[in-house]
Amino acid sequence: MRKYLIVGNWKMNATHLETIQMVQKLSYRLDVSDHQRVEVVVCPPFTALRSAQTVIEADHLQIMLGAQNVDWHESGAFTGEISPEMVAKLSVRFVIVGHSERRGLFGETDDVVNKKLTAVLAAGMTPILCVGETELERDSDTAGEIVGRQVREGIAGVEPDTVASIVVAYEPVWAIGTGRTASADDAGSMCTFVREQVREVSGDAADAVRVLYGGSVNPGNVAGLMAKKDIDGGLVGGASLDPDTFASVIRYWM
Ligand code: 13P
Repeated sequence: MRKYLIVGNWKMNATHLETIQMVQKLSYRLDVSDHQRVEVVVCPPFTALRSAQTVIEADHLQIMLGAQNVDWHESGAFTGEISPEMVAKLSVRFVIVGHSERRGLFGETDDVVNKKLTAVLAAGMTPILCVGETELERDSDTAGEIVGRQVREGIAGVEPDTVASIVVAYEPVWAIGTGRTASADDAGSMCTFVREQVREVSGDAADAVRVLYGGSVNPGNVAGLMAKKDIDGGLVGGASLDPDTFASVIRYWM
């Protein structure tokens, strides 16, 4: 019922010229059956979205576009920020909100993340709400408390019917960019926990929400992760920067 979704988060990598090549190379490595099985999204930097849109539309590619962040205001005196509408007009379909790098390095609180998620929905796009505990929180046995709060506050105030369309990505901070993946069992049970937290707020909408795992996903570990009943896809950082490697992640069952 829930279609697999694999999202490449390129972070602060790739100029617009590199992005064109990366999108084209990735598309050559995927075929119709891959797209039937998995929705594929790439999230290049803002400066490359227009170029990516152009190549996707000109070549009728099935790869979809995501943005890594947006501001939650519609417009105004917010120097350096980008509004949801600005990216929506570039055929962006997904927006990552509350990535741990934004929470940790740029001070985003659960309240800000909730405002962004609401603004992304209002602009007609799908938010990818990122949640996850730090190593310290894990070691002090507060992972459930932290992740539960991030999920519940992230979706607070959103109608259950709308919640059904969102994506939540469980990304343990200690697994991001470290090569230390959560074991498939641990990742699977945390993603089940995430879904149950959505159920507490939004009832049966939880069954439709796609829950992704992120944190050092690579071609070697992806199949084990995807086999878990509550993992509906992956949010992939480093391994999404090389089109060959990313294609191997997307074709995880082969
Ligand atoms: P890595 O796959 O490089 O660990 O990054 C994960 C991530 O933060 C995706 O959003």
